[in-house]
Amino acid sequence: MKRRPLLAGNWKMHTTVIEACHLAAEIGACSAHLDDRDILLAPPYTVLSEVAHVLKDSNILIASQNVCWEQEGAFTGEISPTMVKSAGGVAAIIGHSERRRIFHEDNEMVNKRVHGALRFGLIPILCIGETLEEREGGQAFTVLEGQVREGLAGVSPDAMGKMVVAYEPVWAIGTGKTASKEQAQEAHAFVRKLLAEMYEKDIADSVRILYGGSVNVDNVNELMAQADIDGALVGGAALKAESFCRIINFT
Ligand code: PGA
Repeated sequence: MKRRPLLAGNWKMHTTVIEACHLAAEIGACSAHLDDRDILLAPPYTVLSEVAHVLKDSNILIASQNVCWEQEGAFTGEISPTMVKSAGGVAAIIGHSERRRIFHEDNEMVNKRVHGALRFGLIPILCIGETLEEREGGQAFTVLEGQVREGLAGVSPDAMGKMVVAYEPVWAIGTGKTASKEQAQEAHAFVRKLLAEMYEKDIADSVRILYGGSVNVDNVNELMAQADIDGALVGGAALKAESFCRIINFT
């Protein structure tokens, strides 16, 4: 099954309004000719609508870096799916390892966020990934299975078809240490097989699974050549137009 590649840039807690608008404009310019792949940017909340505005005539998709399960209310510091949509967003990154590790979000909370996004029509990008300790202890696949099963609890087959999964080994994020193409492919194939068990093969075959963790201009081609790697979630290298433009133009 042929899946449309999805290249996503996660800006994390970077960029002022002016920096974000410049970066978005540069990325818009270098992606205008790309019609065989999807490009997505996840800027900080403070610049979501500015970036969406700068890119309104482009085909770049906008996502938030997290999302609450409620539409509005007393949730200081959170952002609702409706707010994301009204700012021009169509997707939300959920369960990023920095949210899990630094802010103690567990699978249960991640699952609530996934349902919140789906209920209000945002595409959830569910992030999963093991730590170095878990990998070295032979626990990587058990951890991934738990994150997938618990993160997707109660998600219907129909909704699953709309989702994106991102495999991001924690030890590869921001460390410059990328998983080898074999390690990444093995994890992606594992996740796809698990999705086929939980849903149906057709659905598992249609879900895009992105790799994240020190993706850069030098490794993107070989990662994207793997059978079960359908895209990339890029952090550091998405903050410079030069490198992100080369990444999204991968061959
Ligand atoms: P990195 O971040 O590319 O800087 O490793 C990836 C991510 O956290 O999504």
